[in-house]
Amino acid sequence: MPAPHMTSAEFRARGREMIDFIADYLDSVESRPVLGPVTPGDVLRALPAHPPEQGIAAGADSWEAVFRDLRDTILPNLNHWQHPRFFGFFPANTSHPAILAELLASALATPAFLWVTSPAATELETLVTDWLGEALGLPEPFLSRSGPGGGVIHTTASEASLTALLAARHRARTRAGAGPFHPTLYTSTQAHSSIVKAAMIAGLAHGPDDRTHVRLIDTDADFAMDPGALEAALRADRAAGRTPIYVAATVGTTSSTAIDPLRAITRVVRAESPGAWIHVDGAHAGVAALAPEFRAILDGLELCDSLCVNPHKWLLTTFDCDVFFLRDRAPLIEAMSITPAYLRNEASASGRVLDYRDWQAPLGRRFRALKLWFVMRHYGLEGLRAHIREHVRLAALFEHAVRADPRFEVVTPRTLNLVCFRLTPSPGETPARADARNAELARRLNASGFLYLTSTVLHPPGQPPRTLLRMAIGGAFTQERHVREAWACIQKHASEAQG
Ligand SMILES: Cc1ncc(COP(=O)(O)O)c(C=O)c1O
Repeated sequence: MPAPHMTSAEFRARGREMIDFIADYLDSVESRPVLGPVTPGDVLRALPAHPPEQGIAAGADSWEAVFRDLRDTILPNLNHWQHPRFFGFFPANTSHPAILAELLASALATPAFLWVTSPAATELETLVTDWLGEALGLPEPFLSRSGPGGGVIHTTASEASLTALLAARHRARTRAGAGPFHPTLYTSTQAHSSIVKAAMIAGLAHGPDDRTHVRLIDTDADFAMDPGALEAALRADRAAGRTPIYVAATVGTTSSTAIDPLRAITRVVRAESPGAWIHVDGAHAGVAALAPEFRAILDGLELCDSLCVNPHKWLLTTFDCDVFFLRDRAPLIEAMSITPAYLRNEASASGRVLDYRDWQAPLGRRFRALKLWFVMRHYGLEGLRAHIREHVRLAALFEHAVRADPRFEVVTPRTLNLVCFRLTPSPGETPARADARNAELARRLNASGFLYLTSTVLHPPGQPPRTLLRMAIGGAFTQERHVREAWACIQKHASEAQG
């Protein structure tokens, strides 16, 4: 008996219903609490523990019941990342054009691992990564059209940083030949945990606290990597017979959006350890380079080896979409390429096509280029720049409001769309007490359901660590009124936390 597929007529009917459901959700998400009042196990208890033997196709269940479960059980127990007053972590943008592309990609269901398995998906990926690279003002070698480098779409920045590390190790080991090889990695104390995790996955670090193989470089007072400290670490390791293979700089650190000084870092690396791979993690902030006035964040990139940016954070492209750019793709392809008989084909052998399976760890890959293409075609570069600029403007507005209220202080310089702030310590207040008050303020704000923001701990050189609140303004649907309403809410709760 064939599988009881949904008929095309029913698909059309349910599809229309689903589009309405999505449009209604996004139109009304603002009226929901940002965080669902969920406790662990709520969803598991509300739904059947075992799968149905007979489904909708056999008449034992119905799409009405599915939609009811979505309305009654799933949506109320979600955190609404698309809520315009979601200011936690970094944003996870979506947009209507990207949603349409995801729908189509799942219909085409084409695993584009070789050019020959999906020619149009491959070539669209080449085109759209070049579009984005050009729009960000990347140096020509990072674009596929110019030859040695190019962009590829990965799931996440974590995947890109790991992949860059594998290419870096391959290149360094090849150069070392039969000589001694004691690889060491460098990143700042403020780097995202995915960098150390990449070292763990690659078998280069023995655990998160392995400081022999991963050097965490100190930052300056603004939490950007200190090139002098990097220089000292590289020099000491070289003198001790170690091989620096990978330096990961961050453009937009997770805690405070600090921007590591790429040009100074490249000078130091090229002088002390010319063979080391320089990877730039621009997961959140990298896309700001779309606007020429923010392009300085990537100054020095021409001397780096790779860059990753996440359109799925702040560029309206539904998760997952990380664009990983390389100045020279050869070391990556050498590190990743293995061709069993069943993958051999004329097109690959001709050398005239790109096979993106060689640019990543998995074989299969989704047709992600489609959503970035839809987003770029719908918004145009002008629209995308407006998106970035508006959030930076709103962050400046918020910062101004915080500075004007003596109960608060801004803790780190605002570089783009994140404001790090906290309740001003009272005279004589211990750091622990000040931290506790800020943590309590965050707890109350988030429990209100009106807005959501996250806290972090920063450790300024020579001072005790500080707990602070992060206001990340980048939601796809966040407007000025949402920021003003959030600030009013924060002020109201601050009065209560003061007491
Ligand atoms: C600077 C930075 N790098 C990497 C990541 C991880 O991103 P992904 O989930 O795409 O791996 C984050 C997440 O916020 C980040 O802030």
